[in-house]
Amino acid sequence: MKGFAVAPAKVILTGEHFVVYGTTAIVAAVNIHSKATVSQRSDGTIVVSSSSPRCSVSFTDGYCEVLQGRRNTRAMLEPICHVARATLEHFDKEKQGLDIQIDSAIPVGVGLGSSAAVAVSTIAATAKLLRRGLDRDAIRHLAFKSESMIHNFPSGIDQTISTLGGLIAYRRRRPFQRIPLKRTFQVIIGDTRRTRSTGAMVSKVKTLLAKGRRLKRQILRSAERISRTALTTLQHGDMRQFGELMNLNHELLRQVRVSTRELDRLVLAAREAGAFGAKLTGAGGGGCMIALAPFRYTESVLHAIRDAGGTPHLVNVQREGVESWLLI
Ligand code: MEV
Repeated sequence: MKGFAVAPAKVILTGEHFVVYGTTAIVAAVNIHSKATVSQRSDGTIVVSSSSPRCSVSFTDGYCEVLQGRRNTRAMLEPICHVARATLEHFDKEKQGLDIQIDSAIPVGVGLGSSAAVAVSTIAATAKLLRRGLDRDAIRHLAFKSESMIHNFPSGIDQTISTLGGLIAYRRRRPFQRIPLKRTFQVIIGDTRRTRSTGAMVSKVKTLLAKGRRLKRQILRSAERISRTALTTLQHGDMRQFGELMNLNHELLRQVRVSTRELDRLVLAAREAGAFGAKLTGAGGGGCMIALAPFRYTESVLHAIRDAGGTPHLVNVQREGVESWLLI
């Protein structure tokens, strides 16, 4: 018998970084997925294997050993061992061993919430294997454990959207607001393929904002205003104005120095090709940008991103969050 779960990636439409300080961010689940398949082992060890990149670790008595893979294998897979262990402890099954197979199509380290989706799918598949119910709040709280190991001071936005799906206005430690999705919409992603650490980027912004209280207050106030207006705009379905707010948000992210020349180039190319708006998404410092565009300009924006040196992806916002099944 196996527990199986699928969890989506995310794109932050407005408010990344500033959300760490309590302002609002708007985030969407998108249709790129992490899959976890979990079965029991009789030796009490947790073995985690990933198909892409191909690597594996074993975890016994709190010690993580790399079985296959490169230098960063432990950094990538150890948090999954901890999250699986925390899920077992949640059900008083800490002696149980597990084989965990991760098959994720979400590019790693580029701002699309890969680590959170892997954690969320692992937790849901483990609970399913144990035939125990786990509500969505419990899943995102358990996932916070691994996100805290990977990121510096995470806001919790990534595991929340991967668990719940759809479109959400998120605030740290506050109730989140679901934004009704009348119909799904397309998001164009441009990947610079330059990976970076979210934790390092969050620390960089923290250092910068610590330099001046007034500056910090002004930036956070602008960020909140952008996300709040964007929320109303989205509720009215006014994508043109939403795009302008994305552009403003990108300028604010440039001010806190998390954009790069490559990201700026892709953002500009998308706007010139007809997008409503474009901005970096996630932690920046490399990684991805996103653009929203009228349907008739989708192809030209995708081409413009490729011509500007990025790898384009076309995704849809998806209603479903994590889903799990018992495979017999
Ligand atoms: C990471 O996807 C988004 C950041 O705002 C960090 C966080 O909210 O935890 C950069």
